[in-house]
Amino acid sequence: MSFEFVQSFPYDPISSLLRKFAYGLVTTCVLGTAVYIGYRVAAPDKSYIKRYRYPELNDQIEKVIASLKINDEQLKHIMRTLEEEMNTGLSPTTHKQSSVKMFPSYVRHIPDGTEVGQVLALDLGGTNFRILSIKLRGNSKIDLTSKIFVVPQSVMIGDGRHLFRHLVECLSDFMKKEALLHTGICYPLGFTFSFPCKQESLSSARLTAWTKGFSCSGVVNEDVVKLLQDAINEKGINVKCAALVNDTVGTLMACAYREPSTAIGLILGTGTNACYIENLDNVGTWNGDYNEPKQVIINMEWGAFGDNGCLNHIRTKYDEEVDLSSINPGKQTFEKMISGMYMGEIVRLIILDLLQQELLFLGHRDTYGDYKTPLYNRGGFYTKFVSTVETDEGIKFSNTRRVLEDIGIRNPTFDDCVIVQHICRQVSTRAARLAGAGLAVLINRMKKSNITIGVDGSLYRYHPRFKRNMERCMENLVHKDLKFKWALSDDGSGKGAALVACVAEQNSSGIFVQNHKEVPDYKKSE
Ligand code: BGC
Repeated sequence: MSFEFVQSFPYDPISSLLRKFAYGLVTTCVLGTAVYIGYRVAAPDKSYIKRYRYPELNDQIEKVIASLKINDEQLKHIMRTLEEEMNTGLSPTTHKQSSVKMFPSYVRHIPDGTEVGQVLALDLGGTNFRILSIKLRGNSKIDLTSKIFVVPQSVMIGDGRHLFRHLVECLSDFMKKEALLHTGICYPLGFTFSFPCKQESLSSARLTAWTKGFSCSGVVNEDVVKLLQDAINEKGINVKCAALVNDTVGTLMACAYREPSTAIGLILGTGTNACYIENLDNVGTWNGDYNEPKQVIINMEWGAFGDNGCLNHIRTKYDEEVDLSSINPGKQTFEKMISGMYMGEIVRLIILDLLQQELLFLGHRDTYGDYKTPLYNRGGFYTKFVSTVETDEGIKFSNTRRVLEDIGIRNPTFDDCVIVQHICRQVSTRAARLAGAGLAVLINRMKKSNITIGVDGSLYRYHPRFKRNMERCMENLVHKDLKFKWALSDDGSGKGAALVACVAEQNSSGIFVQNHKEVPDYKKSE
């Protein structure tokens, strides 16, 4: 019966077609799902690429990056605070409270190119120091020879007397090679000492604190010129330290020698600092004479800006970490956000943070537990890596990949490279904008319509975008009618120190006699 019933069904082509279609659909879905699962299992990190390709779109990464951004309004606020700190530092009654010490340099004039003499210079500011022999021939002609020496790490943090003995040993070797020993002449020496010093005259300066990795004992609060001269006398060589200048002052002087409109000296290197020409009327702490020209170069020591907490609102947890692990916690707040000694470390801490939040180097995280790699070690990401990463343009990221391999990350993905470059850019842009804001304060304050900024330092010289980023932000911060240009110091600050020493020796008052504005435009001759 049933058989008949079945048999009684006629053949239906439509339902057969539908059935075939349903089978096909199910098979496609099953196969599709299998392929998808296989794909996800085999390449888990691929699913993140879309999200990461433009990290600014990723909320978590952007939150980290946002803490580094300082907009123009904030910069203007920082500028007002800096100017207040400057005024506080220049007044004898409030000087102590200011984080910006505004030390008068006792340099009041610019050399005019007619100086004649044989001068030595010693330039100490980092792990290398330089000794120069400079022959001033008048008519702006200079013959210069120099040699670079190393300050071993053990000397940087050892007994202060060893440091000065080491400097003098090298000076003596240099003089021997240059046939300057036992000539019957006592050569004046200009000492560029790139650490904060309260000067009492051109040839007397007390170190207020060590910076940039130095911490020699027995030097803070001492007269550094005397310590050097004692070591020179002990060695019995024919040299007299005639002047001490900060590297910013040396840079200003060296640049002013060929570009008289130079009115600011700026260092953007291992450390950072600026000096500028200030009216004596504004320098309450001035204890010298009031002869013409009524101006003096002020060594700002702006690296310490914020040490009294006035910049806390812009500091990130990475800045705090860098500070706490430094050898001078609580000191050099502004410097630690800007200079080369700290920039790479800030980047390293951000990378580590993103890695720990599982936002970076995905799919590799288990293999990165190797705590011996530079990524996990303080100082493991050099500031020069920041420059290298930022030179990459386009999508190949060959430099970035090389840097990441150097710090222990093998086979970084495209997205890893994008993110690391983004971090480097934010950190260096913040530094450039802070330095630019500081310069804008000085330019607006001096109100000279055309000034030159004499500048030196590895960050300025080698970072591919630092100068451009400073200029961009300064466009919005410098008064429109005030123009400025840059002059890169070619022989470093030692040449400036030598010039100061030469004039100090020739002029018993130790003060130059020509007004800054009237100096003619001398041509560089060596
Ligand atoms: C020092 C300054 C110096 C600057 C640049 C800072 O750490 O305190 O005196 O000018 O570095 O070398």
